[in-house]
Amino acid sequence: MRHIKKIGYLSLLGMLPFVSHADEGEKIYLKGGEKPQALACVTCHGAEGHGLAVAGYPDITGMSPEYLAKQLHDFQDGLRSHAIMDGIAGNLSDDEIEAVTFYMSELQPKEVPHITRAATPTDIGSQLALRGDWSRNIPECVACHGPGGVGVGDSFPKLAGQSSIYIVNQITAWKDGTRTNDHADLMGHIAKSLTDEEAKAVAAYFESIGQQGE
Ligand code: HEC
Ligand code: HEC
Repeated sequence: MRHIKKIGYLSLLGMLPFVSHADEGEKIYLKGGEKPQALACVTCHGAEGHGLAVAGYPDITGMSPEYLAKQLHDFQDGLRSHAIMDGIAGNLSDDEIEAVTFYMSELQPKEVPHITRAATPTDIGSQLALRGDWSRNIPECVACHGPGGVGVGDSFPKLAGQSSIYIVNQITAWKDGTRTNDHADLMGHIAKSLTDEEAKAVAAYFESIGQQGE
């Protein structure tokens, strides 16, 4: 009996850093960071983390903590720039970034229907998303962002169900050179190859996938 108690106590101790890490992340998300300029994330990214599509506030669920942390460091380093997020990221410490991105990655993503590579494109948006335009060296988005744009690993973020305004803003940022944080200009090259109409159409396609799943 004594023996069992001892093991229970020890394993509880082992869990403590994990628990406090998760608590710290939740606190930052709901109330903001140590510095007052690190505003509470919940205000814009929402209690469920699904953002506010019409305002261009992204859904931050369904992505790895590594990807989200990279974005916050990129805002700090000026490889990515945005009027609101530069100040917020700039006022988070490395520990705070680690804690809050862990919390974000644990939030439940929206359900999206499973779309395979074999799906038939119906318009210009789904054509670019599923087939690309190889005559202009534009690969299909799903080649990197995963089937139906659900995201892959730590490097390729999800697009399915994402705010179309946010997606267009990112493409514009790459075109304007205010986002240069992608490896080997993978996204920059693609963004610069898209017309404004095409960017809007492909963004609308990915946002619509989320609506089908709701
Ligand atoms: C006042 C609104 C607002 C608040 C508060 C806010 N954000 Fe953001 N966040 C945005 C907007 C807008 C963007 C999109 C920026 C862009 O278009 O490049 C964004 C983007 C991000 C991204 C990039 C997501 C991606 O998919 O690349 C991360 C990560 C992020 N925010 C984390 C946070 C964290 C952590 C907090 C809290 C400490 C926070 N945000 C608070 C508005 C906000
Ligand atoms: C060759 C691989 C590749 C292809 C094809 C590709 N992307 Fe990307 N995309 C990336 C990478 C890598 C990133 C992440 C860059 C970073 O680390 O911030 C990214 C990021 C993005 C983001 C930012 C999302 C966020 O939350 O930060 C958007 C929006 C995006 N891509 C849209 C598209 C669209 C639309 C297409 C198709 C027209 C497309 N991508 C095709 C590699 C690709």
